[in-house]
Amino acid sequence: MPEKLRFSILGCGVIGPVHAEAIASLPDAELISVVDIHPEKAQKLAGQYGATPYTQLQHMLDKEPVDVVIICAPSGLHGELACQVMRSGRHVIVEKPMEITREAIDEMLQVQQATGVKLAVISQHRFDKASLQVHNLVEEKAFGRLVLGNAIVPWSRSQEYYDSGDWRGTWKLDGGGVLMNQSIHSIDLLQWLMGPVKSVFGYTDTLVHRMETEDVAVAVLRFANGALGTIAAATGAYPGVTTRIEIFGDKGSAIIENDNLSFLHLARDDKEAISSYGVSPQEQNKVEGKSSTSQNPAALSASSHALQIADMIRAIREDGTPLVDGYEGRHPVEIILGIYESARTKKEVMLL
Ligand SMILES: NC(=O)c1ccc[n+]([C@@H]2O[C@H](COP(=O)([O-])OP(=O)(O)OC[C@H]3O[C@@H](n4cnc5c(N)ncnc54)[C@H](O)[C@@H]3O)[C@@H](O)[C@H]2O)c1
Repeated sequence: MPEKLRFSILGCGVIGPVHAEAIASLPDAELISVVDIHPEKAQKLAGQYGATPYTQLQHMLDKEPVDVVIICAPSGLHGELACQVMRSGRHVIVEKPMEITREAIDEMLQVQQATGVKLAVISQHRFDKASLQVHNLVEEKAFGRLVLGNAIVPWSRSQEYYDSGDWRGTWKLDGGGVLMNQSIHSIDLLQWLMGPVKSVFGYTDTLVHRMETEDVAVAVLRFANGALGTIAAATGAYPGVTTRIEIFGDKGSAIIENDNLSFLHLARDDKEAISSYGVSPQEQNKVEGKSSTSQNPAALSASSHALQIADMIRAIREDGTPLVDGYEGRHPVEIILGIYESARTKKEVMLL
């Protein structure tokens, strides 16, 4: 295996350059090529990093000694492109969502099994310090019995954002709206922390934007462990407020706001018993504000992506499993597809 793993990025739009920056920050990774159907986009990104530009994936795979390809194309193309990469014997990282249909995800998992390469799905917020800390506490059962978990995503996207790519806000290539595109990060964190979702009931609507898919959604969830939960999300919530992930159990609570742990209180740390009415608001931790992707999709730092790419490098070198493999990548998509089905049928949808 080479000292530096050789990467290629397919799709040089908004997120492709973030991956390029992440790869450049890792000592054992190098970007050797990029692919985009628009030659000027491929040339621009390739020029910034000394990589070779291509306009067709197969030409790149035939010519370059690449180890890992990162797919940053529109969501409904992830499966087809990732399978092409895996069939060439290369490892693949796909941006979220893994894909937008169960059939495409099944095929990706089958091809991954047949070829034996590694497949990772981007869910970079699982690598944030706050998410890892809360996940470790869940594993230690520090929250006691989990009772309630909420994901709240009151974001803002302009009509220009949806008009900036002909795939945005379409069922065919975006696979949905605020749930499938923006909230999938929070939905993945919620199910990672609270455990598998057993059933969903949801409402969706399109209230602000000219687009096919939803720009507002709410859902109630039943988790397999008996806890209940909610998802509330919008991209028409001007000016865009921070995401909140809330985890409540009978022995503790945690709130992650804007990727920071803004509240944590565990019974095991209490020196004396708290009042029967719980902790007063004055005792609660103060929340720190910070600019985020709630308002601007391009306001993305590459550091969490770098941690996830480093996790893929570890999996390849140790012949292990990436933290978010294809089976993990499937969970949030199943929840979202369940909410869409519920919104259509006006019925609770069982997922387990
Ligand atoms: N993890 C995150 O935080 C995050 C943030 C933004 C986007 N994304 C995901 O990344 C993906 C891309 O989103 P974006 O906002 O960068 O989109 P974009 O439209 O800005 O960029 C997509 C690029 O892919 C290129 N492309 C399309 N089909 C291609 C093909 N067959 N071969 C090569 N290139 C092709 C397009 O020309 C375009 O340059 C989506 O799946 C999105 O959900 C993830």
